[in-house]
Amino acid sequence: MANLWLKKPINELLADSESSDLKRTLGATNLVLIGIGAIIGAGLFVRTASAAANSAGPSVTIAFIIGALGCAFAGLCYAEFASMIPIAGSAYTYSYATMGEFMAWAIGWNLVLEYALGAATVSIAWSEYFNKFIEYFISPSLVVPYEWSHSPFQSLTIDGVYHHGIINIPALLILSLITWVLIRGIQQSATINGFIVVIKVMIVILVIIFGWQFINPANHTPYIPLPGTSSATIDGVFKNFKPITGGWAGIVGAAGTIFFAFIGFDAVSTTAQESKNPKRDMPIGIIGSLMICTVLYILFAHVLTGIAHYSEFQGASGEAPVANAVQNHMPGYGWLAKLITVAILFGFSSVIMVMLLGQSRVFFSMSKDGLVPPVFGVIHPVFKTPYRSNLLFLAFVGLFAAFVPGEVVGDMTSIGTLFAFILVCIGIILLRKQEPDLPRPFRTPLVPLVPILGVLICSYMIYGLHWENWVRLLVWSIIGAILYFTYGIKNSRLQNKNN
Ligand code: ALA
Repeated sequence: MANLWLKKPINELLADSESSDLKRTLGATNLVLIGIGAIIGAGLFVRTASAAANSAGPSVTIAFIIGALGCAFAGLCYAEFASMIPIAGSAYTYSYATMGEFMAWAIGWNLVLEYALGAATVSIAWSEYFNKFIEYFISPSLVVPYEWSHSPFQSLTIDGVYHHGIINIPALLILSLITWVLIRGIQQSATINGFIVVIKVMIVILVIIFGWQFINPANHTPYIPLPGTSSATIDGVFKNFKPITGGWAGIVGAAGTIFFAFIGFDAVSTTAQESKNPKRDMPIGIIGSLMICTVLYILFAHVLTGIAHYSEFQGASGEAPVANAVQNHMPGYGWLAKLITVAILFGFSSVIMVMLLGQSRVFFSMSKDGLVPPVFGVIHPVFKTPYRSNLLFLAFVGLFAAFVPGEVVGDMTSIGTLFAFILVCIGIILLRKQEPDLPRPFRTPLVPLVPILGVLICSYMIYGLHWENWVRLLVWSIIGAILYFTYGIKNSRLQNKNN
């Protein structure tokens, strides 16, 4: 008789990590870089503008504080798990040891939303800046036409001409390129990633420093727009725009949206099996990268909504919003808009890379446990990477990137991740009770307060994401449950061993 709540013994997890085929090559610095590599991306350079335009205006900075708090509490829980269970698989693995197989499956399944759909979202944003790149450096007449760079669910009237998306080709291109790099091996990926992270952080800092002097106080007044605001007078010019949510509701809604910008620090934990000293380096990687990014985000969002009024980010000007804001409002800084565009293309690539890496690692663990087919665990004889898994996910992620709008996959990514975070926080409380004596190189402070706050704030952000996304999460979970009961439970190594 199958037991849904069967737990994987922690000792067995640790033994698995010893016998792994994956190479141990990553140190603490690599891990912080992997974290930042995954964190700064489309969330900051695309979704922040959209959250300001549609929900919170300048007070999107307050939304960042909510998002950061949720992530910090969940991150402290992640760090305890990751230091204690230094094995590939992230929240999936942790929950297998604490909450049993079914919950582990549920989390692993939601991590597909986080990693695979996260990669799809960023590749869609990449395609916006790719067109900006062509406009700046090649010729405006050669940009990929709207039809071939947008999903069939998007349409826009530009200069009186109606356009309708067909397929997002640039997004598919970047996904294929990165899959190729990943198949070639983690060491190479980490080196490329380190280089890109430096460029990415540099560009964020440059925008903050140079942009600060162009902040127009009129754009920040009022800092928290009134609910339903639909017009403003900026420097004597009256503007009408689509009503925004505004008020506190606007801030909470924006928090759900910009939460996407924090996703990725937990991807560090998925590489535990390739880390040289996971016990010490995991917490450093997770908390370190989260802290650096939070400070940068708040400053960046303050500058962005200060140089351009948030209403400008509605509609067509919402594509490649940071480059547009700099180009239109910072005279003499055209070079910065160009530099940003190039840096973003590289920066987004590093996010996609870490997301796809995390995804293949989670399914690697799940296939070793028998919950998904063995094909996801096949390691390349020379490159030592799960190359078949990489290729299968290229197909899956590519479908979303090519045919679904970024807003939809972005919010699905957020809600799936928030759900996984909540389960990780609960897992910490349970494990302290069930296994109080296990060595914990890093201990989450103030348990159960910190995990409880993590659960509450993440739930609040799920609430902010509205019912459409709750329904999508439910549908995704039902599909997952069907797969578990028709495949996972029958092939589970643990179940078979216990029968
Ligand atoms: N946090 C990542 C981004 O902003 C997913 O793109």
